[in-house]
Amino acid sequence: MTVVGVIGSQWGDEGKGKVVDILAEEAEMVVRYQGGNNAGHTLVVNGKKAIFHLIPSGILREGTECVLASGLVIDLRVLVEELDKLQESGVLEKASLTLSEKAHVILPHHLMLDKLREQSKSGSVPVGSTLRGIGPCYEDKIGRRGIRIGDLYKPEILKEILSATLEYWRPMLEGRGETVPAVDDVIAQIMPLAERVKTYVKDTVGFVQEALKADKPVLLEGAQGVMLDIDHGTYPFVTSSNTISGAACAGIGMGPTKVNEVVAIVKAYLTRVGSGPFPTELDDENGQFMRDKGHEYGSTTGRPRRCGWFDAVVAKRVNEINGSTQMAITKLDVLTGLKELKICVAYKLDGEEIDTIPMHGLERVVPVYKTMAGWDEDITGATSLADLPQNARNYLDELVRLCECPICLVSVGPDRDHTFILNNPFK
Ligand code: GDP
Ligand code: IMO
Ligand code: MG
Repeated sequence: MTVVGVIGSQWGDEGKGKVVDILAEEAEMVVRYQGGNNAGHTLVVNGKKAIFHLIPSGILREGTECVLASGLVIDLRVLVEELDKLQESGVLEKASLTLSEKAHVILPHHLMLDKLREQSKSGSVPVGSTLRGIGPCYEDKIGRRGIRIGDLYKPEILKEILSATLEYWRPMLEGRGETVPAVDDVIAQIMPLAERVKTYVKDTVGFVQEALKADKPVLLEGAQGVMLDIDHGTYPFVTSSNTISGAACAGIGMGPTKVNEVVAIVKAYLTRVGSGPFPTELDDENGQFMRDKGHEYGSTTGRPRRCGWFDAVVAKRVNEINGSTQMAITKLDVLTGLKELKICVAYKLDGEEIDTIPMHGLERVVPVYKTMAGWDEDITGATSLADLPQNARNYLDELVRLCECPICLVSVGPDRDHTFILNNPFK
């Protein structure tokens, strides 16, 4: 039996959707377990693009059981939109999907609160959130006043919790000139959506445990990236869930002893969308080159992504936190055409060289770079390491050395076919 976690290792958008789609060929089950529709996971199959915000990226592999586990926060409108699209394209009827009864529900007041926070009207630091209500929904969850999917089918419980939750937020919302949504209106709004998804609602813990007992290959699909983790990321400029590999166990309801492989998804350079420190950020023509060539615009919000050189200080620490067993390097093709490539190997903070991520002061560190020669050859058709120019191989060798982790897969273009596997984690 193999259970493989696929985890974003930087600030998100590393290419998790693509890698999950590739590895899902071997998996019988794909499980998402944290975050919500702040994620945007892109798959390109035979030139056709699909972006999923909630549905696991294994959905296009016929016969794969896709699970939305309890650690997620679910905006039912978005889930229903994705289901409708899959229905139109004929994928849904062949797909298997289950939704945890314990996942929390994103409600209208969460969207209102997210917006107020970003306008600094609530005493919180604006972080450039995706405005999808993710943070406020997790706040209600941790505050023990959240609505779970299973509550939607118990009208009395639903009304009681929702009334109490809205009362909790009333002073804050009204204090900022907002109208608190009426309980009955919210219920009227969400119940048709709840009915639409009812057929998928299950005790997903039992469902996943059955798959594990049956020795099925299972893939765990992370969202966001470790540098956006609520504990280990660049706090407070982070998302509101744990995004590290360990979070899969909590978000699904399974023991850490069951996870066999952790594949860190590592972009060959760096991007970040939203605010917060980014030591290797480039405000020059090299950054613009990466943005243009890599189409670095958010899959969820369309915002231009900030771009920069690869940061090995981040990648090495992230591999330690994740217990990464392998790395999947993505978007190597984007670097083609750059004369020189830089890799950050340490930071200078107040004149002193450090090789760890400081709790304070990351916004003012000066990167210490190692410079490597670039390459000009088109590599999108590469099917093995031997097809890559020597300088591209040197770059990958350096990443392995600095990040202290072997490479299992290299992605050289957006399509499913633009990939070669060195060591399949399912075998
Ligand atoms: P995710 O959130 O980690 O799933 O990543 P996104 O889908 O948000 O962003 C990755 C983007 O890069 C998508 O548009 C992918 O189609 C694209 N992509 C993935 N791998 C490669 C690659 O190796 N080369 C190129 N050029 N594009 C890639
Ligand atoms: P995927 O799964 C990149 C960022 C937002 C913001 C911060 C908090 O596609 O990699 P939130 O809406 O979560 O409260 O926003 O986190 N962010 C992401 N950045 N990729 C993502 O997901 C992200 N999900 C959240 O831009 O800075
Ligand atoms: Mg994304």
